[in-house]
Amino acid sequence: MRNLQDKIVWITGSGRGIGRAAAMTLAREGAKVVVSARTGEEIKTVVREIESTGGQAIALVCDVTKNEQISNLVEKVKAKWGPIDILINNAGIGIFKKISETTKEDWETMMDVNLKGAFLCSHAVLPDMIEKKAGHIINVVSVAGKQAYYSCGGYCASKYGLLGFTDVLRLEMRKHGIKVTAFLPGATDTAIWGDADVDRSKMMTPEQVAEGIVSICYSNPNVLNEEIVMRPIGGDL
Ligand SMILES: NC(=O)c1ccc[n+]([C@@H]2O[C@H](COP(=O)([O-])OP(=O)(O)OC[C@H]3O[C@@H](n4cnc5c(N)ncnc54)[C@H](OP(=O)(O)O)[C@@H]3O)[C@@H](O)[C@H]2O)c1
Repeated sequence: MRNLQDKIVWITGSGRGIGRAAAMTLAREGAKVVVSARTGEEIKTVVREIESTGGQAIALVCDVTKNEQISNLVEKVKAKWGPIDILINNAGIGIFKKISETTKEDWETMMDVNLKGAFLCSHAVLPDMIEKKAGHIINVVSVAGKQAYYSCGGYCASKYGLLGFTDVLRLEMRKHGIKVTAFLPGATDTAIWGDADVDRSKMMTPEQVAEGIVSICYSNPNVLNEEIVMRPIGGDL
């Protein structure tokens, strides 16, 4: 997939942050971008920005924990453009509390969005990818998918799980010609941090992280990038 011109790329959670930056960058590369999240206004704004620079995009509200909304999105995209070539499972949330203070609802929400959401969205695009014997699923994990952080019990558990899911999916999809890549960014300056007491000047920007995603999309057709880790230079974030 060296040429992204007219490739159909679905980025979950692309109303803001890393997903938004990836949508804008991929659209500049000529991809047809499916922008989705729960907040309609944000995804519509992203699509307007893409279209204002001559790019192609569609905004579809989709909660990644709701299977019916996922199926609807996949069918609408198929009817408009065709089957999805690249899925970027990016939607994610962080509820950063010590495990002793994490509620059952906090836990379930993180598992549902960060882990089950990636399963449901992958499941929805796989039949077409298997039929075409081509496709790429990029899961936005995190360095918290293989490293423990204080007050990140539920978040780390969901991301460790997502990394495991990604590794098994890659194993199973390789023979079908479908690439599955785990992308593990470090600290990035987005809304996910809320009002946490962290030095945002030491973080990567969403645009820098988006460049990492785009470079994975551009990988040689014969080469499978299994896992890419990306951190800000300097500091210890
Ligand atoms: N920022 C970092 O330091 C960092 C580092 C490593 C990995 N990551 C990962 O990168 C991904 C993007 O995070 P971000 O930092 O860009 O956060 P963000 O700015 O908060 O964006 C998160 C996006 O996910 C969407 N989302 C949340 N729940 C959803 C749901 N149930 N269904 C569909 N979309 C949903 C949000 O939109 P709605 O709320 O409108 O649905 C939003 O568009 C996440 O998976 C995160 O874990 C972030």
